[in-house]
Amino acid sequence: MMDIACIDGVLVPLAEARISVTDDGLLRGDGVFEVLRLYDGVALAVEQHLQRMAQSAASLRLDLDIAAIARDIESLLATAEPGDALVRVVATRGGRRIVLTEPLPALAESITLGYVTFAPVRVLDGVKSLSYAANMQATRLARERGFDEALLVTPHGRVLELPTASFFWVADGQARTPPLSDHILDSITRGIAMGAADATEVSATPADLERADEAFVVSSVWELMPVSRIEERELAVGGSVTTAIAGKVRARIEAQLSRGG
Ligand SMILES: Cc1ncc(COP(=O)(O)O)c(C=O)c1O
Repeated sequence: MMDIACIDGVLVPLAEARISVTDDGLLRGDGVFEVLRLYDGVALAVEQHLQRMAQSAASLRLDLDIAAIARDIESLLATAEPGDALVRVVATRGGRRIVLTEPLPALAESITLGYVTFAPVRVLDGVKSLSYAANMQATRLARERGFDEALLVTPHGRVLELPTASFFWVADGQARTPPLSDHILDSITRGIAMGAADATEVSATPADLERADEAFVVSSVWELMPVSRIEERELAVGGSVTTAIAGKVRARIEAQLSRGG
């Protein structure tokens, strides 16, 4: 199942999948992408991912046939054996549509976070673009300091998100998360978790997080992952608020999957 790709609607063995080296998707990171989670062969929230991809493309003035992308995903998944995996969908400035399945990475029980200063690129606000070198760099910088992942914080001290996940913290029994107006991605899993957690959207500084009792991160790939430490501050991993929210997120995902994803 992992070794087939769909390029411009044509299924090819992954090892033979090719795009041109002159594509600005490669040369300049100019394009858009999505990563969906496959649960036992069923992709979660396909419509929402397609909608976000269409919005990202429109924002980048990239012509994108979103119906063709939907068909590509369907034809690739028709070749897939049931299993838990990821589906990566890419559209490049050169006009290529790429759909791949990838194995699900090994998931830890919890993660540690270290702050990395990060200024979101304003002209890419809300766009899931291929220009992710800064996000990948932030993760490397956090790992160099001994943390699992980066917690991005602006030069003015606003806590944002992770390089590929959204961030929540719990104080006084209430889950909170930064607002989209802080220039974070409109994460699909963040939407699920906000509903499940009845979370409040509020900007935060690292000083505010000194009062956090629990924290967790969410993404399509990770679902919900507890945070065990932010810099030097230890957090309760099996905390009651996070545990309750994790259960509700799981239930919402299962309900959505039982409706066909
Ligand atoms: C910057 C950023 N934030 C959050 C997320 C989580 O988004 P979603 O829940 O839609 O997977 C991602 C996903 O890759 C991301 O790249």
